[in-house]
Amino acid sequence: MEIVRTPAEVRAALVAAERPLGLVPTMGALHAGHLALVRRAREECRSVAVSVFVNPLQFGPNEDYDRYPRAFEGDVAALREAGVDLVYAPDAATMYPPGFGTTVDPGPVGAVYEGALRLGHFRGVATVCTKLFATVGPDRAYFGAKDAQQVAVLRRVVADLDLPVELVVCPTVREPDGLALSSRNAYLDREQRASAPSLHRALEAIAAAARAGEVDRDRAIARGRAELSAPLREAYLDVVDPATFVTVAQVRPPALAIASAWAGTTRLIDNEPIEAQP
Ligand code: PAF
Repeated sequence: MEIVRTPAEVRAALVAAERPLGLVPTMGALHAGHLALVRRAREECRSVAVSVFVNPLQFGPNEDYDRYPRAFEGDVAALREAGVDLVYAPDAATMYPPGFGTTVDPGPVGAVYEGALRLGHFRGVATVCTKLFATVGPDRAYFGAKDAQQVAVLRRVVADLDLPVELVVCPTVREPDGLALSSRNAYLDREQRASAPSLHRALEAIAAAARAGEVDRDRAIARGRAELSAPLREAYLDVVDPATFVTVAQVRPPALAIASAWAGTTRLIDNEPIEAQP
């Protein structure tokens, strides 16, 4: 496994890479969710690259960029074990050198929900992913379904900018009690951790209401809200179109129940598809 630090080194390392080439973009502090993406890429691609870069452009001024978990040595060991061919780990000055001025604005899909709570977040995600796609040139890029709005944003970017990469979305990996895996779960204290699975229960309640024939959005959301348990505090709970993140008028498939809640100063997100009955 090669570890490289600059776009020129990436290109040199991948010039003869066997295709298809899969890319798993990460911010490091890898958990079982990331490793599931790597495993899927390994199954489907002849070569696999993983980027490890905590992207300052997607963090707001009052967010956790400085304290975001970093665990490069452990990440490298896990990626070697997983059979990855290349790790691209640039520093911030390489990704955004002095004079850097071009960013990718994904438009309306990036302006609501997470985009409204984290101004500039999706511009940061869209910019870094566009740069990673340009540098690595993957045939496929792998993302987790937990970050559903990120997926919707990147689908928009790939379509709008004619980027020759297929996005592969892998199922959310959960703890046995339903909590979606996230590097930020490490911030939760015991009480917050105990209430955190109620976020997923809220989403399941909305999906169950839809399956039982509830089409009224407010009533379905109220069923979900009843599941959220303190000290978790709702940031948003809604049902949206999975491609545009526009709020649906009625809860009918295909739709996506989305939720976010504060646990102290940490904000958790999750989602649950509302699918047609077989
Ligand atoms: O999902 C993440 O970890 C990040 O948003 C990503 C896609 C690696 C871009 O920095």
